[in-house]
Amino acid sequence: MDSTDRALVTDLQRLVRRLNEMPDTREPQETRLGALVREHLGVDAHAVPVTSERISPHRLADADIALATVASDDPEARLVGVAGGMERHHEDTQNLLAHRYTTFAPGPVEYVTTPTGPHSTRQTVAFGLHLFRFDGAPVAVLVRNASPMHGRDAVTVDVLAAEGDVSSRLIARLHEAMNEFSVIRGNVVSFTSDEYGQGLGGLTFLRRPSIGADDIVLPRGVLDGVRGHIIGISEKAEALRAYGQHLKRGVLLYGPPGTGKTLTVEHLLSATPGRTAILLQGGSLRHVAEAARLARAMTPALLVFEDVDLVAMERGMFGGPQPLLFEILDALDGVGGDADIAFLLTTNRADLLEPALAQRPGRVDLAVEIPLPDAAARRTLLALYAAGTPLSPAALDTAADRSEGVTASFAKELIRRAALRAALADTPLSDEHLDAALDEMLDAASAMARSFAGAVGEDHAGPQSFGHFGSLHG
Ligand SMILES: Nc1ncnc2c1ncn2[C@@H]1O[C@H](COP(=O)(O)OP(=O)(O)OP(=O)(O)O)[C@@H](O)[C@H]1O
Ligand SMILES: [Mg+2]
Repeated sequence: MDSTDRALVTDLQRLVRRLNEMPDTREPQETRLGALVREHLGVDAHAVPVTSERISPHRLADADIALATVASDDPEARLVGVAGGMERHHEDTQNLLAHRYTTFAPGPVEYVTTPTGPHSTRQTVAFGLHLFRFDGAPVAVLVRNASPMHGRDAVTVDVLAAEGDVSSRLIARLHEAMNEFSVIRGNVVSFTSDEYGQGLGGLTFLRRPSIGADDIVLPRGVLDGVRGHIIGISEKAEALRAYGQHLKRGVLLYGPPGTGKTLTVEHLLSATPGRTAILLQGGSLRHVAEAARLARAMTPALLVFEDVDLVAMERGMFGGPQPLLFEILDALDGVGGDADIAFLLTTNRADLLEPALAQRPGRVDLAVEIPLPDAAARRTLLALYAAGTPLSPAALDTAADRSEGVTASFAKELIRRAALRAALADTPLSDEHLDAALDEMLDAASAMARSFAGAVGEDHAGPQSFGHFGSLHG
């Protein structure tokens, strides 16, 4: 670079700096999108107030259905997208209608595929502008999906209407329609800890399980007691309401790992088709407030908190001041008593929960122990899991007697291992395989128990469950 070039570069740099410092005096110009909105509303789009509503990402499909439904009352309703490059994601609604440099124009609508059930999806508007008349007044509604990349953690619905009360009435109507036509209603859903992973903004639809009462072996009366409290109260909802009795109820299932707590939950889900169920577990327990809100909107509902002990004493959402368990219990309390909502908590550390429950009485009104199976229950379990095998009743009885102290899941694993031995040896399954599998599992279990004496684990598949047998009360 010679000296004249260098001088030129210095001048240019100074010029650029000067330009950057100069205030931008250009007035925003109406964009083509703005013109469309102005023509529709019949007033200058810059002057029209925007009423903004934020909606949870997992309600995007509900919001879309609600908007489409409300708009469909107007036969001339239109839906347009917004063209103008990626910049449209960074601009608020006013800037899309009037801008200094970019002329946003009507363009193709942007869609995203969202689940609407365990086996169904919907092409859902992710960025689009609805133009229609609501209660006779023209309105423009811009809906945008949440986009963490662009700093938007919620779905936004921006309503433009010349009269403010039209916007608020429309938003109220949208919320009603969202609850009425919700894709979540009647489904089994779980919150995932990964907010923007698969599913609907952190919500996953699960297939409703199919576990009959005969698939569960529990002491007499236990399952009926739980069923009565969760299902029976719903069936008698009208009578109970007539007597002024509340329907909200909380049930705690506690007991050692592998004894059938989750299986009982699955049975209750099977037995209540059509009831919305929301499952929270592990990290997703943080979404307790959101889940309670959802349950209220979707009654009758079942709200399940699995393995609450694992996070019980952790700080709540955003490291709130109180342990998560208290947040869960407070959520139970925050739900109106006349709502048909059942809360189901499971834990294998009732000892950890007890003090918290004692401090907040009335939140859990039934606590049910799901114990280790006694000899008779072990017989029934082995018979259940050996159904369809040639194992003899005598061998199963012997196995039941020899396996004092094991969990219910042990019985299932034992039969599986016996079958595995037979398969690996290319011989038909026989009682010898059962005996050998039991020897192996009991050996492994006692070795484990010795090395972990008193330790509490989490994995209960197979012999490990033996290791922390009795840990709850020990
Ligand atoms: N009472 C039972 N009757 C029949 N099968 C059972 C029973 N308990 C456990 N099983 C078998 O063991 C598996 C695991 O049990 P489950 O997941 O219900 O245990 P859990 O009590 O929830 O344990 P954790 O405390 O570890 O969550 C079940 O899917 C089922 O196959
Ligand atoms: Mg479980």
